[in-house]
Amino acid sequence: MYLPSADRYTAMPYRRTGRSGLLLPALSLGLWHNFGGDRTPESQGEILRRAFDLGVTHFDLANNYGPPPGSAETAMGRALRTDFAGLRDEMVISTKAGYHMGDGPYGEWGSAKSLRSSLDQSLTRLGLDYVDIFYSHRFDPDTPLEETMGALHAAVRQGKALYVGVSNYSAEQTREAARILDGLGTPLLIHQPRYSMLDRWVEDGLLDALDELGTGSIAYSPLEQGILSDRYLNGIPEGSRAAGSSPFLSAEAVTPDLVDRLGALNSLARERGQSLAQMALAWVLRGGRVTSAVVGASSVAQLENSVEAVRGLEFGDDELARIEELVKGTARP
Ligand SMILES: NC(=O)c1ccc[n+]([C@@H]2O[C@H](COP(=O)([O-])OP(=O)(O)OC[C@H]3O[C@@H](n4cnc5c(N)ncnc54)[C@H](OP(=O)(O)O)[C@@H]3O)[C@@H](O)[C@H]2O)c1
Repeated sequence: MYLPSADRYTAMPYRRTGRSGLLLPALSLGLWHNFGGDRTPESQGEILRRAFDLGVTHFDLANNYGPPPGSAETAMGRALRTDFAGLRDEMVISTKAGYHMGDGPYGEWGSAKSLRSSLDQSLTRLGLDYVDIFYSHRFDPDTPLEETMGALHAAVRQGKALYVGVSNYSAEQTREAARILDGLGTPLLIHQPRYSMLDRWVEDGLLDALDELGTGSIAYSPLEQGILSDRYLNGIPEGSRAAGSSPFLSAEAVTPDLVDRLGALNSLARERGQSLAQMALAWVLRGGRVTSAVVGASSVAQLENSVEAVRGLEFGDDELARIEELVKGTARP
């Protein structure tokens, strides 16, 4: 039987999510990869338990995480019923709807029809009465934003979600979403954008908008799916995401120029007494503008390494300038 570590709340910083009452761990765990049918329940359980022992209270899901879609929520549901039985009130569980989940006209995007049924299915897979955060996973250009936000608000009113968020919305779309939600009496708690040293789009207006709105943020793929770690410093290792069949990260993305830059970033991280992954995570969290970074992990060792990042969140101006120099010209379009 799993007994959580008694000192699980000693090392992890908890940060306020915008102007809300919700504190999130500086590092959250995402179940996009490594929690589907392609991994054993044992390896999934090991990572989840270790995360909780290290103070990671927030677990980020979506309806379609797997493969197959839905299986990551099923895996989390199994953990909630077994290892985490009695611990649900110490956890923040999020899920999302918007990307392709099922066939037919209601299996994706942002209609009230799709969001409501998706959340009901997520709750069934998770074995929960409510999720802590329910997200619109992407902006739907064909559905009135009032309808999508109305569906998030309804989820709160029905007691199926405590808070609501948006993901992958532009600064302008976020302002509009927040305005509509405010009118309904449900504040926009959080935005989940992609953000890393190699993907800087949030610096072009989104972070300013979130500051003004009092909305928190949780950065996804902060390691650029593993590129910003020691994973690819010497080629593409077997079992890595780039070596697999992921449509989101191919071996071709790891170019010789990028590997040279990663080598230099790795040296800087070493000077700071960190791994490259730790420095990349600390960088996203620097200055406190981003509430939490949501990482993935394919092993307990990776998770432990990443969580150590919270011990070194400070950067000197010279270090920040060196990082800027090293990543110049690498940003994703
Ligand atoms: N809202 C959205 O649209 C959206 C989209 C994508 C992701 N997300 C969320 O963000 C979470 C994280 O995304 P992600 O998995 O792409 O993030 P990531 O943290 O950038 O990449 C995770 C991968 O990096 C490698 N890694 C992790 N820690 C490491 C360490 N300490 N040392 C060396 N390598 C390490 C592992 O790669 P290997 O597998 O190769 O070992 C791991 O699978 C997802 O689970 C999901 O919750 C949201």
